[in-house]
Amino acid sequence: MDNKYTQKIKELINEMTLEEKVSLLSGKDFWSTKSIPRLNIDSIYLTDGPHGVRKQSVNSDELSLQQSVATTCFPTACCSACSFDPNIMYEMGEAISKEAKANNVAVVLGPGINIKRSPLCGRNFEYFSEDPYLAGKMASGWISGLEDNGIQSSLKHFAANNQETLRLIIDSIVDERALREIYLYAFEIAIKEAKPSTVMCSYNSVNGTLASENKYLLNDILRNEWGFDGIVISDWGAVNERVEALKAGLDLQMPSTNGQDDKKVYDAVKENKLDEKILNKTVERLLYFSLYSMDNIYKNYSYDKEENHNIARHIAENSIVLLKNEDKILPAKKESKIAIIGEFAQKPRYQGNGSSLINAYKIDTAEEYFKENNLEFNYAKGYDSNSSAIDNALVEKAVNISKDKDLVIIFAGLINSYESEGFDRKHLNLPENHNHLIEEISKVNKNIVVVLSIGAPVLMPWIDKVKGVLNLYLAGEAAISAAFNIIFGIVNPSGKLAETFPLNLEDTPSYKYFPGGNKSVQYRESIFVGYRYYDKAAKEVLFPFGFGLSYTTFEFSHLIVSDANTIAGLDNIHVVFDVKNTGDVFGCEVAQLYVTATENNIFKARKELKGFIKVFLEPNETKTIILKLNRRSFSFYNAETKKYEIESGIYTISIGNSSRNILLSKNMEINANSYYQKRIPSYFNFKDIDIPDNDFEELMDKKLKPINIKASKPYNLNNNLLDLIHENIAKEFYNRILSGLDEMFKDDKTDTKNMFKSMMLETPLRTLSTMTGNIVTRKDIENLLNILNE
Ligand code: BGC
Repeated sequence: MDNKYTQKIKELINEMTLEEKVSLLSGKDFWSTKSIPRLNIDSIYLTDGPHGVRKQSVNSDELSLQQSVATTCFPTACCSACSFDPNIMYEMGEAISKEAKANNVAVVLGPGINIKRSPLCGRNFEYFSEDPYLAGKMASGWISGLEDNGIQSSLKHFAANNQETLRLIIDSIVDERALREIYLYAFEIAIKEAKPSTVMCSYNSVNGTLASENKYLLNDILRNEWGFDGIVISDWGAVNERVEALKAGLDLQMPSTNGQDDKKVYDAVKENKLDEKILNKTVERLLYFSLYSMDNIYKNYSYDKEENHNIARHIAENSIVLLKNEDKILPAKKESKIAIIGEFAQKPRYQGNGSSLINAYKIDTAEEYFKENNLEFNYAKGYDSNSSAIDNALVEKAVNISKDKDLVIIFAGLINSYESEGFDRKHLNLPENHNHLIEEISKVNKNIVVVLSIGAPVLMPWIDKVKGVLNLYLAGEAAISAAFNIIFGIVNPSGKLAETFPLNLEDTPSYKYFPGGNKSVQYRESIFVGYRYYDKAAKEVLFPFGFGLSYTTFEFSHLIVSDANTIAGLDNIHVVFDVKNTGDVFGCEVAQLYVTATENNIFKARKELKGFIKVFLEPNETKTIILKLNRRSFSFYNAETKKYEIESGIYTISIGNSSRNILLSKNMEINANSYYQKRIPSYFNFKDIDIPDNDFEELMDKKLKPINIKASKPYNLNNNLLDLIHENIAKEFYNRILSGLDEMFKDDKTDTKNMFKSMMLETPLRTLSTMTGNIVTRKDIENLLNILNE
């Protein structure tokens, strides 16, 4: 926080009336804060990110995601995380800051940093990783790129918001150690390293308390422990009791409640139920936010749109992951006879659906790429990208043009109705028409490369029938040209998976516990998320965390780990090794450092990522790499002492180029203090995670409520339509909302309506009017409750 505003803020607070103070506590509308002209405080504009600026055009209705200003759609987080390169994230943040400036936006709402607990989460495309260290580092790069250039970020969604099912009301039940080591750790890294100006609290509850009213999260951990000094913003509609939220540390409520909730705070102060000093603290932070934002509004700012498009391509090229390359099918020769199959080559899927949807400046296509490079273009659509149904005529055409080709490149992937913000996936399959197309073509040609456009892992039943797989994820508006630059070897692929691709859904860590019941979801797998689980349970996987191929080869050698004779010395461990490019083209390798902790009394993961670096090397070049470790790299969170502690014993430091390909390792012994924590047998050795009620309760250190609770009268504003739907009048009410959404979205060409529709049963009644853009008003909802409770 910049001291230059301190005096000014003091003066303003002294001058402000109580009405003026409370007016700052919530939005003026959907996207901006209130101004106070008398005191020269301007309204500040916030807008969605994270992979671009989604500024809605004037007059477009609030829910419509379609009509926003055209801006660059950069690669989504699932893709950019695979760059394993915080510098590239910085470039993205910097480029986005220019677009924000040009559009008078002060805050870009991102990055999303929630951990991919299950590959089924519909919003995983907006998140980085299953690993908190990687997620934290990537987010830090993005935040710094944005904030160093005067635009503020909003780290979201704080916290334990790892599913879309019932995201507005679910209570995430997580043991303290998993919360600290997995779910909060990514936030902690980003807060401490990149100091974002704002944090967005999530909709859900965490261990019984709404994130928006969670003093433990917002004040004790975020502010007091981690030193966050910015403002906490509510996710849109996440506030329940405004006064409680204020006391817990929530500063800005979004969007507007037309002054209703501000009034509650006003009354509480007047009635001596709220100490004005608490309000003043929040107002101080909000004033700082306003003054800083006002100093960073840029009049007549413009940026080079082509340059940003090229940056989007550059990031994609550094992130796309080559998963299979049998017989060196890639890079392809330009003179080969090539068939391009699949509508995604021409109508790419390059981003995910929901609040992050960018109205892309321009979208690269296969046809354009081939024309620009004077290459012949043999294309068949193969499937309709809006449907999962097999179209035999399209398949036949695709098979026919594939027959006599040297190489067939099939573009396949997930479609919007399969993954989106607002709902979770039910399975890991690609649409039937995509799988079928690949199968059919594989019968007539063996030289197939599948190019995937997906926001999360999928199953690949055809993997043995194709020679190459290139995973674009959702790589932004330049996805297709980036893909072809890799396919033709103009760029050497260097992306590494930031999450595991499992062999089937039943193998995934949270399979038995995701997405929980109608009220809560239990994170029984504790710290065993992603590769921590697959390693512990010794499961085979389709592709491991950290995996990705290159067109060149690398050699790792000469590992040295410095000694630490004392615990304090652990803060200065140097891990030194060499990486050499042993092939004949320029390439980059991601060196990954894993620590295997001793597992004595405390259950541990087999290994955890504690460092990484992307190394750029010319053929034959060798670089000596130094990575540093610190005390935290060896610690676990002791839920009893509420401290990070280290267990005495042997620790292994490993360097690999994927979590399942360790190339160098060294042991070191640590003598630490003793401690005690309960030993719960089921967490030590397991094949499939199956945690009995008693063991999870012991881990949580409390008795747990059932995850499903049948709602009963009197119903209240925290119930949702799912609770009431057995009543006819609630059914009618629900239908009214659905028809209202049909009408509202009748001209919308995106699939956003589906997202809203799927959320309507789940949304708590208190936010239903905001979430439906007032299709039903607060009065309608109160009437409904009155009738039902009669
Ligand atoms: C999403 C946020 C988003 C906000 C504003 C919410 O529903 O969860 O990520 O920033 O809407 O669009």
